[in-house]
Amino acid sequence: MNIFKRLIDRIETLERTVAEQARLIKNLIREGEITEVFDDGTVIVNAQDLVTNKSPFVHFSGAIKEWTPPSVGQSVIAVSPSGDPKRSIILPAGYSDAHKQPHNSLSERKFVFGSTTMTMTEDGWELEGTTITMNGNVEINGNSVTHNGTEIGDKHKHLDVVKGKDKTGTPV
Ligand SMILES: [Fe+2]
Repeated sequence: MNIFKRLIDRIETLERTVAEQARLIKNLIREGEITEVFDDGTVIVNAQDLVTNKSPFVHFSGAIKEWTPPSVGQSVIAVSPSGDPKRSIILPAGYSDAHKQPHNSLSERKFVFGSTTMTMTEDGWELEGTTITMNGNVEINGNSVTHNGTEIGDKHKHLDVVKGKDKTGTPV
């Protein structure tokens, strides 16, 4: 084989290698949208017309575990360490038209699902929902516990108390 032919062969090999690497780099990180969600924590993503296989959505999953299921239409980033978008790890990627931001305070943290909200402010937590359930013993330490503005804590008193069988009035 003459040297010219060998040179051409090596250039062709280099061209193929560069093209393959360009493809892998292009596929390494892609923006996309979730098209399907599964109850095992995986999703399918359409990442700029490349559709992933069922892929894990990133969660805390050690001794401390978190379950925050993603939604169809949610913006995500598909990371494909192998360069194959079908084998991806899916990361959340911020707000979109389908899922707009639920709050705009720069000094509060807020979780929203339907009409249930949990807001963390500099002063404490605010929970809102049709029903708030606590299972287990409840310990409340503080100076005051109120219900619709009426004190019901350990120092509350009652109206209309007389010794005998009568029931007390409401707390005051
Ligand atoms: Fe009471």
